[in-house]
Amino acid sequence: MDLFEYQARELFETHGVPVLRGIVATTPQQARAAAVRLGTDVVVVKAQVKTGGRGKAGGVKLARSPEEAEARAADILGMDIKGHRVNAVMVTEGADIAEEYYFSLLLDRAARSYLAMCSVEGGMEIEQLAVERPQALARVAVDPLVGIDQAKADEIVAAAGFREADRAAVAAVLVTLGEVFQRNDATLVEVNPLVKTGDGRIIALDGKVTLDDNSRFRHDWDAYLDEASDDPLEVKARAKHLNYVKLDGEVGIIGNGAGLVMSTLDVVAYAGEAHGGVKPANFLDIGGGANAQVMADGLDIILNDPQVKSVFVNVFGGITACDEVARGIVGALDILGEDAAKPLVVRLDGNNVDLGREILRERNHPLVTIVDTMDGGADAAAEQARA
Ligand SMILES: Nc1ncnc2c1ncn2[C@@H]1O[C@H](COP(=O)(O)OP(=O)(O)OP(=O)(O)O)[C@@H](O)[C@H]1O
Ligand SMILES: [Mg+2]
Repeated sequence: MDLFEYQARELFETHGVPVLRGIVATTPQQARAAAVRLGTDVVVVKAQVKTGGRGKAGGVKLARSPEEAEARAADILGMDIKGHRVNAVMVTEGADIAEEYYFSLLLDRAARSYLAMCSVEGGMEIEQLAVERPQALARVAVDPLVGIDQAKADEIVAAAGFREADRAAVAAVLVTLGEVFQRNDATLVEVNPLVKTGDGRIIALDGKVTLDDNSRFRHDWDAYLDEASDDPLEVKARAKHLNYVKLDGEVGIIGNGAGLVMSTLDVVAYAGEAHGGVKPANFLDIGGGANAQVMADGLDIILNDPQVKSVFVNVFGGITACDEVARGIVGALDILGEDAAKPLVVRLDGNNVDLGREILRERNHPLVTIVDTMDGGADAAAEQARA
């Protein structure tokens, strides 16, 4: 789960990371009032969207008066930044920036460790720096059982090449950022830029935080739920307790069990190559109990994705036998009626497969094609998606 900058700022503040005051506004008038409350000569109006490169897109603007803050907020609110609509801005104090640094701490899955990255050349060109002069971006492994203690922080600032005079102050901030990461089960904490101000303070001027959804059960993260910027079909699926992930392609996929669904994605992508590059449109695991209602919920979500041109139902009957699944499909088609208007390729195998196929054949629904094999089903669904 990604946080907005203002949420990251709050989290930083709670853990003692130095940040500037910031107030969220959803209208230009609120932005003006926020600037009045901050009372500084300069404020910065910042788009709150969960993507990088806001500054370059024109989503970060200085304002020298409350009137100007109102005008900049009017410019920024409603903007589209890389497909993210700006619904809120944060009005924050203007900083007197002497230097911009970069720091991030992330989960390095391949190394089964954390990785800290740090540079004395931070700011909006960091991606370019990483490509052109990777040596200017220090990479230091961080033991997950220890985190960033004083010794590790000292190691990071030395590797990044901070001047002696700045090391202690920066290292102290890195220790607090390490605490933000560990206490909140984050997989990413990134600060770009971490700045030194004219009067020598170190401040986190920006914050990107990703929290590990797997640890949601032990945190109170309800305030971070953000259904407005989630895919509406994903929100609907979550409400129905379905495991659904939207993808970019054209073939809707329903299966039971994560392993079967994943291999179905593979065979559809492979079969799709012969049909003009057709690809899977989603991942949907209906789990063990594939009764009519679960099947109807699943089909309803997939058929409502305008990108879907055909659907491949690939179910292996186990404890829930194929005849129950077949009744589920028939029942779902009856529940959906006219709403089920896209071709459906069904492959059943496993427990009671003959009876299951018989039930589908008897219903003889014009949109349903029954296939015997997974490869055959993938090919048929890909072909229908192209047609
Ligand atoms: N409070 C502030 N006072 C002065 N300058 C600021 C302030 N906040 C941001 N800036 C300037 O604007 C630039 C962009 O801001 P910020 O890093 O928050 O946006 P960004 O575009 O999301 O960056 P990124 O490329 O990391 O996604 C900063 O590098 C900094 O120079
Ligand atoms: Mg930034």
